[in-house]
Amino acid sequence: MIKQIETDRLILRAFLTTDDEAMFELDSNPEVHKYLGNDPVKTIDQSREVIKKVQQQYLDNGIGRWAAIEKSSGAFIGWSGLKLNTEMENNQINFYDVGYRLIPKYWGKGYATESAKAAIKYGFEVLHLTEIIGTVNIENIASRKALEKCGLHYVESFQWHDIPCDWLKITREEWL
Ligand SMILES: CC(C)(COP(=O)(O)OP(=O)(O)OC[C@H]1O[C@@H](n2cnc3c(N)ncnc32)[C@H](O)[C@@H]1OP(=O)(O)O)[C@@H](O)C(=O)NCCC(=O)NCCS
Repeated sequence: MIKQIETDRLILRAFLTTDDEAMFELDSNPEVHKYLGNDPVKTIDQSREVIKKVQQQYLDNGIGRWAAIEKSSGAFIGWSGLKLNTEMENNQINFYDVGYRLIPKYWGKGYATESAKAAIKYGFEVLHLTEIIGTVNIENIASRKALEKCGLHYVESFQWHDIPCDWLKITREEWL
């Protein structure tokens, strides 16, 4: 795992245990979980568990979501980046997906797109991936748009825990 990467406006770095309060602010917000199964966390211990899980993914897989920090303010704005998905989804397993989750006051500034583009570049240039997947609730227009602005395209629709979702993809050749 690299220490951190930078975009124009963001620092993307490994999660720290001290991100727990900011993660709780993010994941306890029902608005954030509207398209994610409507199950926000209830306690900060749940956020601490999530951080531990991601830190373990760094060790096991060499990659996991990154904490996103706004350069101008130094604020934790949420997370973004790649994950090796080891659970069956749309009949696929062990694929790399790009995703993001931001605290609402940072929505609408292009941060999801900016950070995901950097993660995709990292995936192809550093991890030498052959393809990157994006999955999105069909009603989540902002997320869908961000994926498409990063060059991902629609492949098919599927159900995730009874939620209608779309499966998008970008291959290394398309990205080049
Ligand atoms: C999805 C999410 C990360 C988008 O973050 P963001 O930084 O606001 O996204 P961007 O600013 O990069 O915007 C992406 C595009 O969506 C558009 N958009 C944003 N909100 C929108 C909305 N409610 N309806 C329609 N379009 C919207 C933006 O205008 C932009 O398109 P444009 O550049 O053509 O104008 C953010 O809404 C979020 O964290 N949501 C909760 C968690 C979540 O749903 N994660 C994704 C799971 S798949």
